[in-house]
Amino acid sequence: MLQDNMFSIDDCMMTARKFLETLCPPPWGVVAGGVSRNFSAKQLEPMAKLITQAYQQRQTIYTLMPQEEQTVWHLVVHAPRGMRAANMTPPPSMAITGREVTMIWTLSAPTSITEALMLSQKLATQAKGRAGVGEAIPLPGTIMFHNPGPMRLQRFPVSMMPTKNVAYRVADGKLVREAAKSSRPAYDARDLAIKIGEAPDGSEVVSLPGHQTNGFYLVLGASGSGKTETLKTLGAGVHRYGVPILLLDFHGDVILPDVASTLLSSAPSSRIGLNPLEVDVESAKENGLYDQRTAVLEMVRRAVPQLGHKQANALHTALENAYIAAGIDDNDPETWTRTAPTFPQIMAAIEDEGLLAGVRGLFGHPIFNRAEHLSIEQLLTRSMRLDLSKLPDGVRYVTAETLLRRIFTGLRMRGPIPVRPVDDSERFRLFIVIDEARLITMGGNSDIVSSLVNEARKFGLGLILASQMAEHFPADIRSNAATWLVLKPQAMEEAKRNAQNVAGVTPEQLMALRGRGDGYFRDRFTAEAQRVQVRPL
Ligand SMILES: Nc1ncnc2c1ncn2[C@@H]1O[C@H](COP(=O)(O)OP(=O)(O)OP(=O)(O)O)[C@@H](O)[C@H]1O
Ligand SMILES: [Mg+2]
Repeated sequence: MLQDNMFSIDDCMMTARKFLETLCPPPWGVVAGGVSRNFSAKQLEPMAKLITQAYQQRQTIYTLMPQEEQTVWHLVVHAPRGMRAANMTPPPSMAITGREVTMIWTLSAPTSITEALMLSQKLATQAKGRAGVGEAIPLPGTIMFHNPGPMRLQRFPVSMMPTKNVAYRVADGKLVREAAKSSRPAYDARDLAIKIGEAPDGSEVVSLPGHQTNGFYLVLGASGSGKTETLKTLGAGVHRYGVPILLLDFHGDVILPDVASTLLSSAPSSRIGLNPLEVDVESAKENGLYDQRTAVLEMVRRAVPQLGHKQANALHTALENAYIAAGIDDNDPETWTRTAPTFPQIMAAIEDEGLLAGVRGLFGHPIFNRAEHLSIEQLLTRSMRLDLSKLPDGVRYVTAETLLRRIFTGLRMRGPIPVRPVDDSERFRLFIVIDEARLITMGGNSDIVSSLVNEARKFGLGLILASQMAEHFPADIRSNAATWLVLKPQAMEEAKRNAQNVAGVTPEQLMALRGRGDGYFRDRFTAEAQRVQVRPL
């Protein structure tokens, strides 16, 4: 507890570690700590380095502010997981969801420890949790720690609401909300600025993905709420700025006036095809060909769920044999660039009648038997809409997943974007836009989407995904999205689930939306979601 104001650096580090442990398991790093008045140049150096690095890589730094004498700047409550920060009165300035929910109320002016203890205790009772004063915050110094990074997020999602513009002042033993200050940065003509629509006061709502931790958008809403129109507005904003978009259109209704369409269908007029069996040489160097065959097999099994175990085994053998027949040897990387086998070739070698009946619809589809393929260069140089609406479900699914994998490898081969991009055209190489994204994130194949999401920023990929419900996306995808647009839900149950992801919006408020592009916008500059009427194209 805080009897003594003069803590050693070791004490500070220990306190910070304890705090971090409540958030997520290691690895993470505590970079510096100490009594703020006593920082030496030597202690400041690693801190300055961290800030510079994190700034360049657009990572988040969490800062626990110093304590001034016998005063504190924050109230902290640890509540069990599942506790909704937005339900607290008043709502916290920041909520960090890890093993438990850590809620922090930032004060605009410091208060006494006694007062802070009393207020935190009240809030803790409300949250059925425990007050954090003395345990984590206030800290006798400044402690910083990195965003644990994409890999960590994947295993253990930690999400955070921003703190900047919600502050409280203590008056008569109560927390009073300070006027919200907008912390939205000024932007200039070089920035990718997407004009989304109008706020109720008539002001323009602008999204600046380059200023966010990533260019990853989730759009939620019931049928008729305006998801497709919203995707078009977002996609057009990116395209006009000059960053190419790839629109995977499952229903055939996401049409942008100046983006060329390519129809993938069985008709002879549709000439573009793809080969899901093509060897991805770069990733094979890391993981071997075996893994790639397994990935193909799993993809086929998801597309043809009725295949039994025996049939899947037979298919596995057929795949192995097909690569051998094509002269592609697992142990000889020089052979990996040879022409890969195709689905029709595999089908020709299958003897099991049941297996053949199962895969015929997929393997026999003409798009898997065409010589002309889309190259990653084509995808990264101009915007394109791929109309997948005429494909049967399984084919559509395999096509989408194969394309996403190609893009992922293609981007990785190009290496990370520059550490200090001059503008957003260097920061973003491609935005993928997918309506009805549930079709690719459900059914267990979200691993490719998760990989894309986790590595997106590093390789310059933006993602704009829409679906009816938040649950259509796995937790790591949800916790990664920097920008949300939540439109009218279908029913209360859905409203409750969708509201959980958007700070400061109640299910009732979502239910009260009018539909047709009326919704709430939230990104990491806005502590609370902001009402917006999306402007259609
Ligand atoms: N921002 C908007 N302003 C005006 N009208 C809109 C707006 N957004 C959508 N609409 C209209 O509302 C209707 C439904 O929109 P949209 O197709 O985008 O919904 P959706 O959420 O994609 O529905 P579904 O899930 O059925 O595909 C359309 O007639 C569309 O023109
Ligand atoms: Mg739609």
